[in-house]
Amino acid sequence: MQTDSSFTFVLFGGTGDLSMRKILPALYEAHRAGMLEASGKIVAVARHAEDRDGYLQWVNEHVKAHVSKNGVDENAWSSFLERIEYVKLDLGKAEDFVKLRDAVQELPGTRVFYLATGPSLFVPICRALASVGLNENARIVLEKPLGYDLRSSNAINDAVGEIFAEGQIYRIDHYLGKEPVQNLLALRFGNALFEPLWRREWVESIQITIAEELGVEARGDFYDNTGALRDMVQNHLLQLLSIVAMEPPHSMDSDSVRDEKLRVLRALKPIDPRDISKVAVRGQYHAGVIRGTSVPAYATEPGVKTDSATETFVALKVEIENWRWAGVPFFLRTGKRLADRVAEIVVNFRAVPHSALGSSALRPGANRLVIRLQPNETIRLYCLAKKPGEGMNLSSVHLDLAFDQFFKEGQMEAYQRLLLDVIHGRLALFVRRDEQEAAWKWVEPILNEWAASGKPKPYAAGTWGPAAASAMLAQHDTCWLEEEN
Ligand code: BG6
Repeated sequence: MQTDSSFTFVLFGGTGDLSMRKILPALYEAHRAGMLEASGKIVAVARHAEDRDGYLQWVNEHVKAHVSKNGVDENAWSSFLERIEYVKLDLGKAEDFVKLRDAVQELPGTRVFYLATGPSLFVPICRALASVGLNENARIVLEKPLGYDLRSSNAINDAVGEIFAEGQIYRIDHYLGKEPVQNLLALRFGNALFEPLWRREWVESIQITIAEELGVEARGDFYDNTGALRDMVQNHLLQLLSIVAMEPPHSMDSDSVRDEKLRVLRALKPIDPRDISKVAVRGQYHAGVIRGTSVPAYATEPGVKTDSATETFVALKVEIENWRWAGVPFFLRTGKRLADRVAEIVVNFRAVPHSALGSSALRPGANRLVIRLQPNETIRLYCLAKKPGEGMNLSSVHLDLAFDQFFKEGQMEAYQRLLLDVIHGRLALFVRRDEQEAAWKWVEPILNEWAASGKPKPYAAGTWGPAAASAMLAQHDTCWLEEEN
């Protein structure tokens, strides 16, 4: 699939971690797969490299290692490098933006400005772009975190909104670009099978987990001022929740999809600060062992304060106040240094109302859909079947769809899909301002309460987080998927 539109992709933060690990590798993959229009250009903007040669040297040294599990195609790599231009720019110098304007003036196609920088630079960069007229007919991509709370996120959105119209702004949440998330939409709205059951009458509870084995890596300083609620819940987990729970949209156009997601976010039952200990658990990892390797406590990671009260684990019980979902608990969970790296959505259906086949048909979890986002993208449907042999004994069986076995090619990383969407002007998988506001509004009581009192509960690295997260589910006669035997 060749794009029919040319582009000039301007990458601020061109020597940053995100550019190195995600953005440039994703652009390379799109290039290698012939998905970028031949004349399209990438203009990296940074301070560290002196000139284009210096920048290409950096790309060769740092980006190549993050490209493609199947190794680098040297021909594709060198033609990819030919697309790259470089502008050395000091954000504080107005004249440098004139230099940038001159550099992109003659370049082809739609202009995309990707701000792979800290959020404090979003507004200054947008203003500087506007000062040289570069906001016209352009698209701007904003990375998360977009602000620190509702107020700071509104301040950024207000200021950026004075320069770019909402339809020019692409707020990226890379979880929305993951193939299985797209597939959830296909599963729900492309089949007659699931939708009739996708409601309170047939669903008992839903779990959404994003568990990581990694710690804070080199980001201790950033993370210690952020925490898991801001880093993962306000964006990725609430976005996944809104896709699981949304009504069927009228079409897949960007506003139809985003309107439905927004309705879910606005219907989240507000959290009463007095109930927080019942519906929210926070944890912080201590030293432990992951896959046989000892790992240090969060509080001893570089950049982290030794008495830090920042949470590295969150578990929440969430309710949605509408006819479809009233009373159904949604359990959300995320954490660093957990026992496994897994992201999945578990839909637990209710048991049959009467069993003529013995009590096993009444067991919770007999019917369950597990959508695994990573690793190994699969959708697994659990149901009961008769055990071979005498008598009528039921046993749990499952039907599997493993995407990599079914579709042998065409798999795409989230960033690759999302960058192509920006180049093509498709906004459906980007977060609209009102969605973001609704998400911040909902998490704020928890942020405030946690900031005002107590500390996270400790958990050993390599476990599934504090015991309180299991106790929260036990109150609803259920447990996390991995706790079942
Ligand atoms: C990022 C968070 O948004 O998502 C990181 O800032 C986290 O802390 C990452 O590690 C997880 O993404 P993925 O795609 O590796 O699950």
